[in-house]
Amino acid sequence: MTKRIIIDTDPGVDDALTFLLALASPEIKLEALTTVQGNVTIEKATRNALSVLELVQASQIPVVQGCSHPLLKTPHNSGEAVHGQSGIGKSVLPEPTSKPIEGHAVDYLIERVLAEPDELSIFPIGPLTNIALAIRKEPRFAKAVKELVIMGGAIRSGGNITPLAEFNINEDPHAAHIVFHSGIPITLVPLDATYKCLLTSDDVERLNKIDSPIARFVRDATATYMDFYLKYEGFKGCALHDPLTLAVIFASEIFTFEDHYVDVDISGGISTGKTFADFMRVAKKPSNIKVALDVRGRDFVELFLERMETLSRSISD
Ligand code: BDR
Ligand code: CA
Repeated sequence: MTKRIIIDTDPGVDDALTFLLALASPEIKLEALTTVQGNVTIEKATRNALSVLELVQASQIPVVQGCSHPLLKTPHNSGEAVHGQSGIGKSVLPEPTSKPIEGHAVDYLIERVLAEPDELSIFPIGPLTNIALAIRKEPRFAKAVKELVIMGGAIRSGGNITPLAEFNINEDPHAAHIVFHSGIPITLVPLDATYKCLLTSDDVERLNKIDSPIARFVRDATATYMDFYLKYEGFKGCALHDPLTLAVIFASEIFTFEDHYVDVDISGGISTGKTFADFMRVAKKPSNIKVALDVRGRDFVELFLERMETLSRSISD
């Protein structure tokens, strides 16, 4: 059965790759994109969402603009260092001709979820601001949403924005706190798994044997991202953080999942934004999150490439 999903996103290079992968996956029906500030400002995030959908001839999919600020923190949009100023690396996509649909993403999420309780899965791959506000604004939201599959957090892994914290969670830790304690069934895909999924420059070259705007987009979009990884991590490649969430649908066997009580530090100290699991069960609290602690990373990258190749063959200039 195909899974009906809404992606809540701050595109972002790996966010954009997630849209492509969703559209290339027969197991998934992508119903909408809701945007949130994070990697870039909300205006750029919405523009990028629209442009990428146009590139892949999918502008019938609604895009709805969401929060421009985290709940309490000041936005820094520091993702621009990783994702390029535009948010989509060195790729230059035309100004989109389609427009976001009227209204706010938080209201859209509430409306869609309440209209079809237990039907829609939401995949948040940016800061959790929109989801937290939907939970707070409409008390029936948490019960009606089928599940959340979240890219975020660093459980045993170190952080990628502070030594302890992962970017999406750190950008709005208070929102993450609300979401983690909402009672919604949650699968968390943290850096522990995503850093195992490295797309290399050789992979991008392999994809570009196909002459297609999709293959070229993957090459140009990942170029800045790969420069960043070369400078800071010492290899020419980049982690497929956000796309990995979709593999929970179509390749769950490649993950090692564990159920844990997971929380996030919002104390305001040096570890603010840090996500942690109660491995020793000392808090004696029930598990609230299914965590992907490991993944067969190369298996995922191969699946990603195969699907990008199929998509590239189906779309030419
Ligand atoms: C997350 O941070 C963002 O920069 C990426 O798009 C991904 O969602 C990885 O920490
Ligand atoms: Ca993202």
